[in-house]
Amino acid sequence: MTASIIDGKALSDAVKADVAKRVQELKTTGIVPGLAVVLVGEDPASQVYVRNKAAACEKAGLHSRVVRLDADISEQELLDVVHQLNDDDEIDGILVQLPLPRDMDSARVIETIAAAKDVDGFHISNAGLLMTGRPLFRPCTPYGIMKMLESENVSLWGAEAVIVGASNIVGKPMAMLMLAAGATVTLCNSKTRDLGAQTRRADVLVVATGKPGMVTGDMIKPGAVVIDVGINRNDDGKLVGDVDFASASQVAGAITPVPGGVGPMTIAMLLVNTLEAAERRAA
Ligand code: GUN
Repeated sequence: MTASIIDGKALSDAVKADVAKRVQELKTTGIVPGLAVVLVGEDPASQVYVRNKAAACEKAGLHSRVVRLDADISEQELLDVVHQLNDDDEIDGILVQLPLPRDMDSARVIETIAAAKDVDGFHISNAGLLMTGRPLFRPCTPYGIMKMLESENVSLWGAEAVIVGASNIVGKPMAMLMLAAGATVTLCNSKTRDLGAQTRRADVLVVATGKPGMVTGDMIKPGAVVIDVGINRNDDGKLVGDVDFASASQVAGAITPVPGGVGPMTIAMLLVNTLEAAERRAA
């Protein structure tokens, strides 16, 4: 069997076009949705992500502000910047790009963001709302994955969903969203014994470990839907996922590519979250 490819780029273009339309409607009421992205230091990957986020905002008609801060800034100075953005009426969404440098306490920084502007959905208040079935902001990567599954007509109701990687950014919120959609969810981590025995049960398999090629075709149930969250550079400088695409695509029913799968959806959902924050301000 050869898997069908789930085109995240095409779906993200459709989501962004819808956002652009809703932004224009909102502008007629005098509100321009605004996103502030805070980047501390010069991490090359983070610089690329931040540039892409700002460009996507501008293309969809949102106001974007990138706040660049020196790597040697104190934690208190960063918290002061976040407080100013919390009080800024032009800004509906605030995102502090992770990872933060050195010994900065990212949990403390995230908790300083006003929950109503936390478009990443990382604030404990938003994590708690998601867990108790009353989400305000859904974290962008798992939210984008849910949109992809919906657009592919993949039903989670009663399905076996297996997630590899239990981060706060992807794995844990992914588990909550899939649980709410009626799946039986297994959340694996780096200590999981016999990972293949878990992944082979999955009707829907999400892999977010940051380890290139970690899940291979023999770990996948024939016909399963495979979602690859990883973005890694291999020894040849090529972008690869956490799933070994060559072997997995021989077994899976559908699979996301890297690049062009989950990555573009994450940015699209950031725009959705920022737009919805602004729509709530307008209401
Ligand atoms: N670093 C990697 N992914 C993300 C994300 O989704 N949000 C933020 N703020 N930082 C990240």
